[in-house]
Amino acid sequence: MKTEILKIRSIVSDIDKIRRAGELLRGGEVIAIPTETVYGLAANALDEEAVARIFEIKGRPQDNPLIVHISEEYDLEKLCEDIPESAYKLAHAFWPGPLTMVLKKKDVVPGIVTAGLDTVGVRCPRGRFARAIIRSAGVPLAAPSANISGRPSPTDAKHVIEDLDGRVKAIVDGGRCSVGVESTVIDMTRETPVVLRPGGITLTQLKRVLGKVDTSFEAVGEVRSPGMKYRHYAPKAPVKVLIGGLSDAAEFIKKQSANRKVAVICFEEEAESFKETGAPVIPYGRESEPAELARGLFDALRRADESGAEEIYAREPGIGEGIELAVINRLEKAAGYNRIILDMNQ
Ligand code: TXA
Ligand code: MG
Repeated sequence: MKTEILKIRSIVSDIDKIRRAGELLRGGEVIAIPTETVYGLAANALDEEAVARIFEIKGRPQDNPLIVHISEEYDLEKLCEDIPESAYKLAHAFWPGPLTMVLKKKDVVPGIVTAGLDTVGVRCPRGRFARAIIRSAGVPLAAPSANISGRPSPTDAKHVIEDLDGRVKAIVDGGRCSVGVESTVIDMTRETPVVLRPGGITLTQLKRVLGKVDTSFEAVGEVRSPGMKYRHYAPKAPVKVLIGGLSDAAEFIKKQSANRKVAVICFEEEAESFKETGAPVIPYGRESEPAELARGLFDALRRADESGAEEIYAREPGIGEGIELAVINRLEKAAGYNRIILDMNQ
């Protein structure tokens, strides 16, 4: 299939392309669209056949539910019931934005979207192009990240083209995503809301509105969000997280690169020291600015592969309650929880 590339710079000057995207979606096609988090592989959420094709195109396991995207907050009530007061508070505080709320679904939401669960994840994205496309389509859109299942999520149209050119009817190119990691997923059907996936809305922000939140995504072995159990975000070469001081880390990389091709994903502040090792260095943002790390991580993982590295070593930020949590979560998953802890006394 020939993939149409619809490049959009502004809603006003490119309104014909927004309309084209809306028309394709209304007609049951699957297309990739930009959002503020990552690109999504979208289809009419109320059209079972169109949704089934999303799973096929991505190679996504059938038991992993999709997020439904709406353009207006009040559309939540068309898709969900038994909505607690706390969910309205979150919508008021963070929508449109990178927050997905899991709520009891109404019958209009087909079982294929939710992988048979009686709950549905709903999000009202902040991305202006995404909202304009949803409005133009006139239907809610089911959309997982627009990557081949298991690969790093796409934060630029070129990543989507890499994975899906020829497999989708159209790719809407809206430039780079401003957040760079996916939405925070929170289960609002529990007495105490449970964060299932850390993301663009931080724990600090959630706690400010909700008071108490359960963060069991940190619990090892417990799978509450079906998507959390699969290998994810992974480049082709194996990734290892490198923990320890900069000089030890640089020393380690120097030794490793004597034997094979390795690449280093690191903070801007560390780039000079790693460059001295001779290995390809891919900085993904400043350690002091976690939002930059979030924006740059998935692109860095893809570029590490392009460098031809047989092994990728990555530096991860210190833990807190901000967006660095999402960065750490994605990196640890990309690494399959493989970490190398450098011991200065060795
Ligand atoms: O930022 C985002 O959320 C992006 C953009 C495109 O909106 N979408 C995205 O979708 O990341 P996806 O499919 O890659 O991740 C959706 C996550 C999965 O971990 C899935 O298991 C979880 O949300 N999820 C969806 N519906 C759920 C439900 N009813 N109960 C529990 N988890 C759910
Ligand atoms: Mg995904």
